[in-house]
Amino acid sequence: MSRQKRVIMAVIIFGSFIYIVLTQAVHILGGAPGEPVHPEIRKFCSSASRKNVNIEYEDSNLPVIYVVTPTYRRPEMVAELTRLGQTLTMVKRIHWIVAEDSHTCSPPITSLLDRLGLSYTHLASPMPEVYRREKYVPRGVSNRRAALQWVQENGEDTGVLYFLDDDNAIDIRLFNEMRLTQTVSMWPVGLIGEYTVSSPVVKGNQVVGFYDGWPAGRKFQVDMAGFAVNIGYLKKQKKVTMPYIAGHEEDGFLKSLNLNLKDIEVKADGCTNILVWHTRTAKNPSRTLRLAHHQATNIKPLTDNMRKMGRLTMSAEQRTNLKFLVQLGKTPSEALGMLQKVYGMRQCHAHVFLSGARGSKRAGRTWKMTPGVEDPQRAGMRPMLSVSSRWCVTIVG
Ligand code: UGA
Ligand code: MN
Repeated sequence: MSRQKRVIMAVIIFGSFIYIVLTQAVHILGGAPGEPVHPEIRKFCSSASRKNVNIEYEDSNLPVIYVVTPTYRRPEMVAELTRLGQTLTMVKRIHWIVAEDSHTCSPPITSLLDRLGLSYTHLASPMPEVYRREKYVPRGVSNRRAALQWVQENGEDTGVLYFLDDDNAIDIRLFNEMRLTQTVSMWPVGLIGEYTVSSPVVKGNQVVGFYDGWPAGRKFQVDMAGFAVNIGYLKKQKKVTMPYIAGHEEDGFLKSLNLNLKDIEVKADGCTNILVWHTRTAKNPSRTLRLAHHQATNIKPLTDNMRKMGRLTMSAEQRTNLKFLVQLGKTPSEALGMLQKVYGMRQCHAHVFLSGARGSKRAGRTWKMTPGVEDPQRAGMRPMLSVSSRWCVTIVG
């Protein structure tokens, strides 16, 4: 073999080696965009079939609609799910999958599901921490993915999958529209984005594009509430997924179904009617509870119930305990761990601040003096403690 040939051979072998190493590294370190590197935590809590209603609601000739609702603990959670769940009781052959972004299923939701008498599945799957730290958090993805797995394993092939967020508003006529979906069906969603509506563009009963205020390079410019999928069709696809990429969950999911625009079934009178709205509920800030004069009145059990329903606000008692723990020299994460153990605030894992001066550190490090983050006008006043996280606790004063 000439020297030149040997060099070429060596370059080819070395190149192949580098290629294999790099592809393996990408696979091991990151995988496909939006796909988690570590296994996700999934907890199945309970399932039940429909009860206490007219048998007509369980007409087995009708395909089941599997409605997937992601939710997370916050003061509004029980209100949102009560409203949505009561709407669903008016619909035939529904299986409601309530998927919590959490390690565990919340007891008030378990009892709500039981009371409603719907056919349901209750599960939990927390968002992996790595995504929670992102600037734009992919909301409701871990829990939808867990529900998707449940549907792939348990859903009837004739059935239909529909993602319905807990804060949306729906006209029950939409369920008649989607029930006989053969592949993927679509319709407009109201009260969303730049154009106050997001809709497929339809010509001659075929989808030819999308009318949506946020194209963002998406093939399918639709909202989560704007489509339904036949379960038999879903099961036939090789790798169904929903990526952890904020704003691209719908597009990523629909692309993973190997869908072409021409396959889309047009609903809601040729996409001229709005039967679902992307309504949003205002967030209620946590307030400090003032319970000193109410230990013997209804206000004590009332606030205890609010706490159970997700309205967790730290009481004066907990605040005193936190100050005590700080004085004992506990780190923020140790102190939070102890408070969580006693008060059951499992979701409080964000920031712990000791306020009064400059600087702040995340829980797990040392305590630092900082201006009150929840209450800026108090900055520079007497030191105060505040524990803040995405939904649970605020201590001020
Ligand atoms: C919009 C879309 O309608 C969502 O389907 C999409 O997941 C979301 O944007 C996104 O791209 O991140 P939007 O109203 O902006 O929804 O978001 P939320 O209503 O706050 O959250 C969507 C769903 O995820 C809700 O059902 C909510 O309960 C749930 N969620 C939200 C969680 O499970 N965990 C969270 O931390 C936040
Ligand atoms: Mn929403």
